[in-house]
Amino acid sequence: MLMEWSESLETGIETVDTQHRWLVDAINALHDEVTKPTPDTEVVEQVLLGLVDYTYNHFIMEESLFQQHGYADETAHRAEHNRFTAKAAALLETHDRGELPADEAMAFLKDWLTHHIMKVDMAYVPFLKGKGVT
Ligand SMILES: [Fe+2]
Ligand SMILES: [Fe+2]
Repeated sequence: MLMEWSESLETGIETVDTQHRWLVDAINALHDEVTKPTPDTEVVEQVLLGLVDYTYNHFIMEESLFQQHGYADETAHRAEHNRFTAKAAALLETHDRGELPADEAMAFLKDWLTHHIMKVDMAYVPFLKGKGVT
């Protein structure tokens, strides 16, 4: 396991928390596979594709809430999402070249997700809750 779910990652918005938990699980699954003595490249590919796909949908979900409610920090938040999407795409390219994600790439995923949820996502919580989002 690379990262553990904790209360400090909880926004209290149900859909958001469910999706964040899924992302933590996927990063852990990727970590668990690549740290095996003989990682299964098909499993790595499946997890990577799932991670990219799910992340994309999660970002769309958040961004549509921002649009719907007129969140002031939408642009900066989107820029952070785009950084992660670029990294995830780079990981898929790494996989296509027959390489496993490097330790730094795994650390980036973990650090990015932790920071993003705890700082950047948390920043919208009072605003969205104020708009009645649960
Ligand atoms: Fe976000
Ligand atoms: Fe998020």
